[in-house]
Amino acid sequence: VLLICVTAVVAYLLGSIPTAVWYGQGFFGIDIRQYGSGNAGATNTFRTLGKRAGTVVMLVDVLKGYTAAILSTLLWNFDVITTNEILTFKIVFGLIAVIGHLYPVFANFKGGKGVASLLGMVLAIHPEVAVLCIAVFLLVVIASQYVSLGSIMAALAFPVLLLLRVFGEKEPPLLIAFGFVIFLMVVLTHQKNIGRLLRGQESRTVLIRLRKK
Ligand code: G3P
Repeated sequence: VLLICVTAVVAYLLGSIPTAVWYGQGFFGIDIRQYGSGNAGATNTFRTLGKRAGTVVMLVDVLKGYTAAILSTLLWNFDVITTNEILTFKIVFGLIAVIGHLYPVFANFKGGKGVASLLGMVLAIHPEVAVLCIAVFLLVVIASQYVSLGSIMAALAFPVLLLLRVFGEKEPPLLIAFGFVIFLMVVLTHQKNIGRLLRGQESRTVLIRLRKK
């Protein structure tokens, strides 16, 4: 139990690393949350601070979710544990990291929307479906120019692809349920984006470089 608690705290602290905020402060002397969409995530970093900054933030945020999810396998390597238990812990620790990303202790609990970190944990849990979700994301973003719409559609694709058994075998019900939880989380974190999309006011994927919101 102690090991589980320690891992949970490590996962939260890992998720709490406010990559976009620190990158903006460290390299540009700004708080990313006052620019563009106001979101402390890879998309807004890309939009506001450029390609290199956006790419670094995205990779680190993906890595946070991925690492938190695989913490379970690393920690329980020495113990006898069923695959179902490993899956449960991957989901739990991954989600704790995503919560850290949304409410980071290192950045006044005002973080991002969790898409990159969710992708990281999904990569650790089901890489094949994760790759298909990335493809859905890219297709939607290229077709619509809206990153937020791509995120929402990719999050919906995850449980739907699991349900459709795209890779043949029946997926664990826990994983499918978790997929719908992810979709719900992404819809909740994108409420403002959805409002802007419906009003036709959502920003396209163009770089707006340091424009205050
Ligand atoms: O990953 C976040 C993205 O879906 C939306 O970001 O900055 O446009 O609100 P943003």
